[in-house]
Amino acid sequence: MKKTLLLILSVLMFFSCASDDSSPEIGVTVYRSDDSFISEVRNEIARAGGDSVPVRILSADNKQQKQNEQIEDFIESGAAAIIVNSVDRTASGVIIEKCMKNDVPLVFFNREPVKDDMAKWDKVYYVGARAEDSGRMAGEILADYWLSHPEADKNGDGALQFVIIKGETGHQDTELRTEYFTEALTERGILLEKLHEDTAMWNRDLGRDVMNGFLSYSGETIEAVFANNDDMALGAIEALKDAGYFMNGKYMPVIGIDATPAGRRALRDGTLLGTVFNDAENQGRAAYNIARELAEGRVPTSESIGYELTDSRYVWIPYTTMLKSDLI
Ligand code: GAL
Ligand code: CA
Repeated sequence: MKKTLLLILSVLMFFSCASDDSSPEIGVTVYRSDDSFISEVRNEIARAGGDSVPVRILSADNKQQKQNEQIEDFIESGAAAIIVNSVDRTASGVIIEKCMKNDVPLVFFNREPVKDDMAKWDKVYYVGARAEDSGRMAGEILADYWLSHPEADKNGDGALQFVIIKGETGHQDTELRTEYFTEALTERGILLEKLHEDTAMWNRDLGRDVMNGFLSYSGETIEAVFANNDDMALGAIEALKDAGYFMNGKYMPVIGIDATPAGRRALRDGTLLGTVFNDAENQGRAAYNIARELAEGRVPTSESIGYELTDSRYVWIPYTTMLKSDLI
């Protein structure tokens, strides 16, 4: 009898503990799952979640409506904090209002909400990298090359004829990388002539298609290619290879951004002239650490998250220039 009672008691205790188990969870939604750089960030968030407050990670399949529903779902299922890589950064305001109403703190990464949206609530954070720096660094890589390789001026007119393959329109990384790339070259006294620019949505296959188009319009007159990320640069390199580049002395300087594993391989084999390291691991870790502090009811500090907070609610992870000689 006593034994049975004890058993019932322990079973009851087990269940009450289990249902009482209010261990917090962090909901995470990324704009799409097949973006190389974002996948690296997501992997790091998943790794971090294995050590401490667990994470539930979803992809919005590039649909803002779907992402909004995922966020509502996280709120309903009691998420203690939410990490968002928004599909459309202009939708951040609506997301912030929803989370504010339910008091669920938010950490955005990679797609920066505009200042007015960030000002709506103080439990909103942003982790990213300064797009203008990456553009400037990419421009410096090409400037260094151009100024030390007179033969790069293929038509000998003293100007640099170049093309740009852009990321998604409206994304801060697209606009600022493009702007500061050309500014850096101009500041070095280089005369520029932009032959073409088009978007390839951060995507390798589209990058190849866009480059094929540029080659068919302008072929031999193109003297350099800047892609807003490595995947599109790699697509451009495929198109260039098909057109006979990177063999028999035919060369084209191609610059990307991210330094993804595939980008590094291209640096090593000499098809990618240079790239800019976009530190996925630290962006993922910083976003997670902030969300963990918020989920456990604390106000994040630089000390507690291990990254410097700027203006109380921003973490900026630095970019670094990456050339073949920087590879170990
Ligand atoms: C950029 C990155 C791109 C792409 C984009 C997605 O920072 O360089 O490769 O991942 O974010 O928003
Ligand atoms: Ca020229």
